[in-house]
Amino acid sequence: MTTPDDLRLLVVGASAGIGRAVAERASGAGSRVVASARRADRLAELDAHVVVGDVTDDDDCDRIVAEAVAHLGGLDGVVYTVGASPLLPLADATSADWQRVFATNVIGAARIISAAAPHLLAADGRAVVLSSKAAADPFPHLSLYSTSKVALDGLLRCLPKEFPGLRVTRVVVGNTTGTEFADAWDPDQLDESISHWAEIGVLGTGGIMTVDQVAESVLFALTSSAYLPDIAVIDHETDVP
Ligand SMILES: NC(=O)c1ccc[n+]([C@@H]2O[C@H](COP(=O)([O-])OP(=O)(O)OC[C@H]3O[C@@H](n4cnc5c(N)ncnc54)[C@H](OP(=O)(O)O)[C@@H]3O)[C@@H](O)[C@H]2O)c1
Repeated sequence: MTTPDDLRLLVVGASAGIGRAVAERASGAGSRVVASARRADRLAELDAHVVVGDVTDDDDCDRIVAEAVAHLGGLDGVVYTVGASPLLPLADATSADWQRVFATNVIGAARIISAAAPHLLAADGRAVVLSSKAAADPFPHLSLYSTSKVALDGLLRCLPKEFPGLRVTRVVVGNTTGTEFADAWDPDQLDESISHWAEIGVLGTGGIMTVDQVAESVLFALTSSAYLPDIAVIDHETDVP
């Protein structure tokens, strides 16, 4: 069993939200962490080796993993928390919107974990990828996001078939505060969406988790003596993605 204090960990999506909490919690527990995302200034605040990169760029994906392996001398864990979640009715979504969401949420995960797989297999390590309750329970105007998470779930079933022995954990996450999930949402679109959600009766009281609660579960998935292929981290009252 790996313990947090001997973990060599790459966190992709470490500049904000859940990924940042994972990187902070892991380094606080003694793990050696490589933190990656696009914003260098945010990453520089972490107790981690920084690799700036964009997961929608093939070369960046290869470089992120290669630099992490070179710095750490191998990899015991990769956590992929990158996510794009536009609030956008299907009727307004262009193919460029779809491509951006899939490039970020699905293809980036495929590129990063495929590049990391030989190193994880060599170290008996694990990949942990954040999916969402919204894959099974979509929310109107977040359909691009929900569809991408369904595709991501499919990818996570494919990875161990192509990399036999690779241990991949899907973490199904519910509504979590302390993130940038909704920061880019247009206020007018949000007003319209909230009215629509109220009208169709999908707005509820809803529970909410902290990034630390989710980060704790991610670290557990990386270090548990049992392999956990699928876990859900959901406040029991949560009803939004
Ligand atoms: N928050 C929730 O309520 C919730 C619920 C269910 C599931 N989830 C899932 O949990 C994961 C984390 O969510 P979060 O809310 O913590 O997200 P967040 O606060 O928005 O953080 C997303 C991270 O991804 C990075 N990122 C975005 N695009 C990138 C790109 N092209 N290349 C590299 N890095 C990129 C961002 O950094 P830069 O901008 O610096 O690149 C940031 O570090 C996501 O997969 C999300 O779908 C979240």
